[in-house]
Amino acid sequence: MKLISVVGTRPNFMKIAPIIHELDNHPDIQHILVHTGQHYDSKMSGDFFKDLGIQDPDFNLNIGSDTQSKQVAMIMIAFEEVCDEVQPDGLIVVGDVNSTMAATLVAAKKGITSFHVEAGIRSNDREMPEEINRLVTDAICDYLLPPSIDAVENLIKEGHDANDIELVGNIMIDTLQKNQSQIQNSKILETLNLETKNYAVLTLHRPSNVDNKKTFQGILEAIAYTQKHLPVIYPIHPRSRKMLEQYGLMSYVKGLPQLFLVDALGYNDFGRLVSQAKMVLTDSGGIQEETTVYRVPCITIRKNTERPITIWKGTNELAGTSKHKIIDLVNQVLNGKWKASKIPQLWDGKTAFRIINFIKQKLV
Ligand code: UD1
Repeated sequence: MKLISVVGTRPNFMKIAPIIHELDNHPDIQHILVHTGQHYDSKMSGDFFKDLGIQDPDFNLNIGSDTQSKQVAMIMIAFEEVCDEVQPDGLIVVGDVNSTMAATLVAAKKGITSFHVEAGIRSNDREMPEEINRLVTDAICDYLLPPSIDAVENLIKEGHDANDIELVGNIMIDTLQKNQSQIQNSKILETLNLETKNYAVLTLHRPSNVDNKKTFQGILEAIAYTQKHLPVIYPIHPRSRKMLEQYGLMSYVKGLPQLFLVDALGYNDFGRLVSQAKMVLTDSGGIQEETTVYRVPCITIRKNTERPITIWKGTNELAGTSKHKIIDLVNQVLNGKWKASKIPQLWDGKTAFRIINFIKQKLV
């Protein structure tokens, strides 16, 4: 059996790694890994392959950055050629990035059976490029592998056949568990001179937050308040750095004495930083899940989330982008008033095992 899987951006690497490791137990399956090159900086891409202990990709399509449509179109053209050469029996895609949707479209057109890991999550906000990717991917994918029960319900509501859906759990948590000793051995706290539970972590990169000067500035004003109380570490995404410079906000940021901008971090260093933080402020998807597992208060700087289970069960709260709401939630953490939390069902480190079992049943 020949399986091909496609990754393109940083969060994809954490999701494919446990599947690759699980496939080592299945010598009857030949696996081909394709990197579209949507992310290409070593700090956004190559370094993760090392941290996660996964092979270099068999194919790199070297697509790079462009408009959403051009990026998708270029991935489709290049990936079709790879499929013609490899002739896979099945495609595995993960997450909700442009590479995910583009590869699934190619598979659907070519009659390659496809499996979507992290299917069914919905923000119901079509202004997010990822929401379009989720809707399209799930609509044309053969088998849907959601991480949580709310995602199963979304798929059923959209009319998918229950036989094509398998609740497998959260694949990112497999990686988090497998890497736990490397994560806790990271020396990032010493390097940045931080004390456990006495700093905050900030990540911001969504176009809706950083591609609008007024919104970005308002969020930074809430961060200016936060850093008066404890150091704030901001590992910065290339998109956000570019926008800070373009908007002339870099000098404002550099003038905040306890806000520390650092380059994007590797998987283990970032995991250690998050796991020991007093709080995390973020607009990322995966970090809402990781903070739930680490039981670290998470303030999500977005008006919605495709991962509501992290609010119902986990440590997450939505702040929107209002400066006052963000400050209000920061104060709740500082005052020790955060809610109790639980880990959602099947976020247990065995998701890759369930995925490969399911794929084998369907393809044999
Ligand atoms: C993409 C995903 C997003 C995911 C994020 C993780 C889509 C629609 N978006 O957003 O869901 O959360 O990755 O990081 O697929 N750039 C670099 N170096 C890189 C990659 C990007 O400098 O290695 C810069 C470029 O200026 C580029 C910009 O970042 O134009 C945005 O990159 P892009 O891949 O388009 O989207 P992300 O914002 O990274």
